[in-house]
Amino acid sequence: MRLPIYLYGHPVLRAVAEKVDTSTAPSQELKELVDNMYETMYASDGVGLAAPQIGRSIAMVVIDAQPLAESFPECDGFKRTIINPELEILDGEEIGRNEGCLSLPGLAEDVKRVEHIRIKYLDADFNQHEEEVSGFAARVVQHELDHLAGKVYTDRINLMRRQLIKGKLNAIAIGRNTPDYPYRTAPLRKKR
Ligand code: NI
Repeated sequence: MRLPIYLYGHPVLRAVAEKVDTSTAPSQELKELVDNMYETMYASDGVGLAAPQIGRSIAMVVIDAQPLAESFPECDGFKRTIINPELEILDGEEIGRNEGCLSLPGLAEDVKRVEHIRIKYLDADFNQHEEEVSGFAARVVQHELDHLAGKVYTDRINLMRRQLIKGKLNAIAIGRNTPDYPYRTAPLRKKR
């Protein structure tokens, strides 16, 4: 089932996601949620989607960076379901590249990030993984993990750019800049 994507300005995107309870086997509900997140991501032409973006403040993301493989070979076959991740930065040098986000329709900005990371996480069957990720795949992972910390990529761009796109961000937050996929905007504030 395709789910609506929560847009910039919605408080769920600013919450710190809760860890998924992995003390028992994955529930049917969780497995369905993973399937629905992939379906939603593919239908919206995204390469990553974090649970807060579908209104669930839990530490889970899905990634399939295959569409980027032509430009970034490290993305070839990079499909991961990541639950309760821990991120370690392996290389401190930051590189700026263009990023977009399904929660920020119509925007793309240069974001500085490191190119080498190590992640520890559980997959959808709660099997443990630990791996090093490089290049654009590492960027996608960092972008998605930011969502679990209540961050979006525009938090990481320089102040001047942020000032320049402030109007566009506000338009998204008040429902005046909407995507062509199903979405939810922030609850309207009462006017006095
Ligand atoms: Ni995003």
